[in-house]
Amino acid sequence: MNGIRRLFLLNIILFLQIKSACSLCNMPTAWLGLWYQRGMTSLLEITIDYIQTKGRCIDVLPIQQYYLFTERINRCTRCLLFIERDTNLLQYRESECNDADDLSNITLCPNMIAPDAPLYTLHRNNSKPQLCPIQPPFLLLKLIKDGSTCHRSLSSSYIGECINDYQFRLHLSPCSPYYQTLDLHLLCVATWIEGFHTYFVTRILSKQYHHNDNPYECFYYTTKEKDISSSFSLSMATDGSCRDLNSRHMATVMTLSSINRYMMNESNISCIYPDEFQQYEWYSLNRTIQMFIRNTDIELINIQQNEYNKRLHCLQSINSSYYRIGIFTNCDVNEKCLQINQRTDNVLELIINNCHNNEYSKILTFIKKSNYLSLCPTSIGHLLFESNLNHQHHHRQLILRKKRFHMSVGCENKDKLIIYQIEKDLEYRSLTQMDTCIASWKSSDLSTIYLIAQSNYSDASYCLSFQMSDSIIIRNNSHTCSFNNNEDKTSISIYSAKLINPCSQSKRLSFNYILLLIIILLCINNTR
Ligand SMILES: *[C@@H]1O[C@H](CO)[C@@H](O)[C@H](O)[C@H]1NC(C)=O
Ligand SMILES: *[C@@H]1O[C@H](CO)[C@@H](O)[C@H](O)[C@H]1NC(C)=O
Ligand SMILES: *[C@@H]1O[C@H](CO)[C@@H](O)[C@H](O)[C@H]1NC(C)=O
Ligand SMILES: *[C@@H]1O[C@H](CO)[C@@H](O)[C@H](O)[C@H]1NC(C)=O
Ligand SMILES: *[C@@H]1O[C@H](CO)[C@@H](O)[C@H](O)[C@H]1NC(C)=O
Ligand SMILES: *[C@@H]1O[C@H](CO)[C@@H](O)[C@H](O)[C@H]1NC(C)=O
Ligand SMILES: *[C@@H]1O[C@H](CO)[C@@H](O)[C@H](O)[C@H]1NC(C)=O
Ligand SMILES: *[C@@H]1O[C@H](CO)[C@@H](O)[C@H](O)[C@H]1NC(C)=O
Repeated sequence: MNGIRRLFLLNIILFLQIKSACSLCNMPTAWLGLWYQRGMTSLLEITIDYIQTKGRCIDVLPIQQYYLFTERINRCTRCLLFIERDTNLLQYRESECNDADDLSNITLCPNMIAPDAPLYTLHRNNSKPQLCPIQPPFLLLKLIKDGSTCHRSLSSSYIGECINDYQFRLHLSPCSPYYQTLDLHLLCVATWIEGFHTYFVTRILSKQYHHNDNPYECFYYTTKEKDISSSFSLSMATDGSCRDLNSRHMATVMTLSSINRYMMNESNISCIYPDEFQQYEWYSLNRTIQMFIRNTDIELINIQQNEYNKRLHCLQSINSSYYRIGIFTNCDVNEKCLQINQRTDNVLELIINNCHNNEYSKILTFIKKSNYLSLCPTSIGHLLFESNLNHQHHHRQLILRKKRFHMSVGCENKDKLIIYQIEKDLEYRSLTQMDTCIASWKSSDLSTIYLIAQSNYSDASYCLSFQMSDSIIIRNNSHTCSFNNNEDKTSISIYSAKLINPCSQSKRLSFNYILLLIIILLCINNTR
C-alpha cells in the first residue's frame, strides 16, 4: 500500500470515529438486536441509535440509563429508563409523550417518569439458554392460585427434571374440574437477583403453547429462604412480564420441597459409568450421533441439530457392565436397563432393554474418535457374491440383471476391504470400492465375524457380519452392528457368498483364480 492511500484510509477511519463519538446517543452494543415485548405484534429492533416505535435516541444520561427518544411522525419526545437485568432481558419505564420544546434537556428525565409507571419487559429473541437457578425435582406441598389455596391433586403436581440443567418441567394439576392441567416444558434464559429475591425467566418450549399466548414465564423466590430450608416458595407471574409477581392476588405461589435428586426410590449406591470410556468422543456408525460418557450420565447428541436428544442417567450399577438407567428425552424419563459391551479397543455397544425380559432390546454401536491403526481380519479372504437375496421384495424386478462381485478382506492390503465388480466377460474385473477396516471381532460362539469398515466416499462407516459356513451370509448394516429381527430393515442388506480363496493363497491369483471363478459362477448359475 502506498503512502497516500494509507493516509486516505487513516482519514476515513478518523472521520468515522469522530462521527460516532459525535453522534448524539448510542445504545449499548450489548442491547442491539431483536426483542420480544408482550402485546406487540412484531419484534422490537434496537439499533445503535434507534428503537422501533420509540424513535431516534437524541441524548443519554449514561450513569443512570436515562435515554431521550424522539419520534417525528407522532411528534413524541419521551424519556426511557432502562434496567439491564440479564444479557437476555431488559426492562424499561417510559414517560408520557411530550413536545420536543418542552422536553429538550435530558436532565429533566428523572422527574418525567412516574415512579408507578408500568414496567415493560424485553426478552431477547434469540436468547442463549442458561443454567436454571433451581434444581428439580421438587414436590408440591402447597399451591395458591388466583388468590385461593388449591387443595385438589397436589400430589400429582410437581416440578420435574429434563434432559439438562437448562430446562425443567412444571406440571400443575387443575385446582378445579373446569380447568386444564398446566404442563410446561421450560428453558431458562435469564436470571437476576434484586434484594432478597432471585428472579428467573423461562421460554416455553412445550408444544401445547399457542402462538398468541405469552411465550415466557417469569418466576421468583426469596433467596434466603431457599438456602436455609428444604422447602421454599416459588411465585410465577400470570404473564411473562415479571410485573405482577408481588401481587399475591395474581401470582401462582407454590411451596416446594426438594426431594433428593435421583434418590426418590433407590438405595445410595453411587452409580458411575466406567472411567476408561470417559475421556473419549464416540460416534455412531453413520456419524449422526455423538456420545459422551460422563460420570453419571451418557449424553447422546444429534450432530445435525447440535443438541442432546437423549441422556442415559445411571440409577444403579448392577454389575460392572449392567446398569439400571433413566433415559431422558426432553422432559420425559423412562426407566430401562443398559448393558455396555466393549467389543474392541475402539468399539462400544450399548444394549438397552426393559430390564424384565430381553424381548425388545435396542443395540447402538459406537466407535471411538481417535487415530487408530487397525487391520482387517485375515480369516475371511476372497469371497464371491451377487447382488441378489435383497431383503426388499417389492424391488425385486428392478435388480433382474444381477451383478457379480469379488470381495477381498485384508488380503492385498492388510487394512483394506476391496470390492471388484465382475463384468460380463469374466477375465475382467473392475475396482468398485476400497474401504478401510476399523475394527473386527467374533461372536461368542465364533461362528460370526463382525467387521466395521470406513467408507472411502463419506465419513460414515458400516458394519458387516460374516456368518461363516459352507455358504457365507454377509449382512451389511449402516446403523449398528445388530442384525436382529427388530432392527430397521431398510438399513440392512444381505448377500449370500462363496469363499474362493483364503488370503494366504492370494499372491498368485491370475490363472487359477480366474478358472475357479468361472467354475463357481457357472455353478451358481446352474443351481438356479
Ligand atoms: C441541560 O440542563 C443542564 C442543567 O440544568 C444544563 O447544565 C445544560 O446546559 C442543559 N443542556 C442543554 C443542551 O440545554
Ligand atoms: C426469533 O427467535 C426464534 C427462535 O428463538 C426464531 O425461530 C425466529 O426466527 C426469530 N425471529 C427473528 C425475526 O429473528
Ligand atoms: C421403589 O418403587 C417400587 C415400585 O415402583 C417399590 O416396589 C419399591 O418398594 C420402592 N423402593 C423404595 C426403596 O422405596
Ligand atoms: C444411605 O445414606 C444414608 C445417609 O447418607 C444412610 O443412613 C443409609 O444407611 C444409606 N443406605 C444405604 C442402603 O446405603
Ligand atoms: C451382569 O448382570 C446381567 C443381568 O443380571 C447379566 O446378564 C450379566 O451376565 C452380568 N454380567 C457380569 C459381567 O456379571
Ligand atoms: C478413495 O478416496 C480418495 C479421495 O477421497 C481417492 O483419491 C481414492 O482414489 C479413493 N480410492 C478408491 C479405491 O476408491
Ligand atoms: C454397506 O452399506 C453402506 C450403506 O448402504 C454402503 O455405503 C457400503 O458400501 C456397503 N458396504 C458393502 C461392503 O456393501
Ligand atoms: C444413524 O444410526 C442411528 C443408529 O445408530 C439411527 O437411529 C439413525 O436413524 C441413523 N441416521 C441416519 C440418517 O441414517
